[in-house]
Amino acid sequence: MAPGWWTEAVIYQIYPRSFADSDGDGIGDLPGITARLGHLAELGVDAVWLSPFYPSPQADAGYDVADYRDVDPLFGSLADADRLIAEARAKGLKVIVDLVPNHTSSAHRWFRAAVAAAPGSPERARYIFRDGLGPDGAEPPNDWQSVFGGPAWTRLVEPDGRPGQWYLHLFDTAQPDLNWDNPEIRAEFVDVLRFWLDRGVDGFRVDVAHGLIKQADLANWEEPQEILSGNEADKPRPPMWDQDGVHEVYRQWRQVLDSYDGDRILVAEAWVEPAERIARYVRPDEMHQAFNFEYLLAAWTAPAQYAVITRSLEATDAVGAPTTWVLSNHDVIRHASRMGLSAKGGRPNGIGIGDPQPDAALGLRRARAATLLMLALPGSAYLYQGEELGLPEHTTLPDESRQDPTWERSGHTQRGRDGCRVPIPWEADAPSYGFGPTDASWLPQPPLWAEYALDRQQGVSGSTYETYRTALRLRREYALGRGTLEWLSSGDEVLSFRNGGLTVLTNFGTAAVPPPAGELLHSSAPLDADGRVPTDVTVWVRHS
Ligand code: GLC
Repeated sequence: MAPGWWTEAVIYQIYPRSFADSDGDGIGDLPGITARLGHLAELGVDAVWLSPFYPSPQADAGYDVADYRDVDPLFGSLADADRLIAEARAKGLKVIVDLVPNHTSSAHRWFRAAVAAAPGSPERARYIFRDGLGPDGAEPPNDWQSVFGGPAWTRLVEPDGRPGQWYLHLFDTAQPDLNWDNPEIRAEFVDVLRFWLDRGVDGFRVDVAHGLIKQADLANWEEPQEILSGNEADKPRPPMWDQDGVHEVYRQWRQVLDSYDGDRILVAEAWVEPAERIARYVRPDEMHQAFNFEYLLAAWTAPAQYAVITRSLEATDAVGAPTTWVLSNHDVIRHASRMGLSAKGGRPNGIGIGDPQPDAALGLRRARAATLLMLALPGSAYLYQGEELGLPEHTTLPDESRQDPTWERSGHTQRGRDGCRVPIPWEADAPSYGFGPTDASWLPQPPLWAEYALDRQQGVSGSTYETYRTALRLRREYALGRGTLEWLSSGDEVLSFRNGGLTVLTNFGTAAVPPPAGELLHSSAPLDADGRVPTDVTVWVRHS
């Protein structure tokens, strides 16, 4: 049997609030996406993954779902979703939707029922309610911290007005964690999977896939809690992440997907290290893919890139799954800015006015080199909307505009993820840079957006957009996603490998180096006057 489409697919992440706004309210929507699908076909990706568009109070930009079987009026209707799926299919694009099983919104009917019901009731047993500690239960049940800052427990006021039980929320207070030991929850999500599979989606990106099962004793955990934290190989496993019990859930889901026609996939969002632990999510009877966050987080040096690429390939090969690659998404600083930050500043969660600012030119140069390196690797790659324009992070967003709950919950110490979520520019001279028909934009767009607009880059040789398009065309032509990597050089300054008919070289050193022998097909920036590959440039050469 031919390998599934997903083993080599380039999957483009759409963040619906910020992609395209059809009605001018400043928030992107499904009809907006449908109208812009031509861009994605033109770019040459294989599939789109849509971040959540379900009914939601939007406490965490839709990752707080109040109804898993509908569309929020902000984004359109179920009919709009059907139209989007059909139009995408007509353009040869697959559609993956986001599934958020770790928690619901506090506005979900189940949570409302739980709050209204008594301690010990079946309604409360759908979530993780506990009595507090101390004589009057005023202390939280354990010391867990929320990923967004502050305690991971909130105390209820019981229906009779007295302070009552506490509920667990690993994220915002408006995102209560579900109790996955309860069979009713498992049955419900199987039904939700079927609901979207029946509507024709090609798969699910599974949010916080490593969080569903908690260690039974809810033991204290003294370590800090971060969205980017995983399990370092030499550290004990946190009691809230990557528990062995999660795998049973995905085995059951896999059976559901396999009972459908076509090739439908599950993709794990699991911030888990090392690569061998992540590979457990993509064993043959579980999910199809898992995001490779170790790759996203790797330093831009030849040894670090060599190590992470080699390790990733080995770990997924061992379980027979494709490796995935990703550089940007809606939770991290866009790689065009991240790669222009000084390494000494660590890895900030957001950048704002007054913070050390990235070197934009250096960041973009490295980002383009990194993207060309990534798109030449065998496996499947993820792109985040706007990276094909070389879009930087908005690093001077006024703090008053911030919407990520991280900013408030961290007591204004972590700026959070708004800077990568700003609505993207399509036309330099249009209102909201073509995002919508009006000037409205739920996060302010910086004036800089004009120079990154799609219409400024189309047909402009050497623009980031054309660089991506050429790379995607060649990737398909040379079947790079299906290929095998063979290292030619893995020194401190230069990485070079073969994949099928292509030789790829990235120069991390300070001096220019000669390109590999053969016909130069593509490069992330021009070669120097002597035909050598300058610092922070990747070239693709057809070897003879
Ligand atoms: C995932 C999402 C992130 C969200 C969190 C809670 O990490 O990618 O955006 O805030 O889950 O649902």
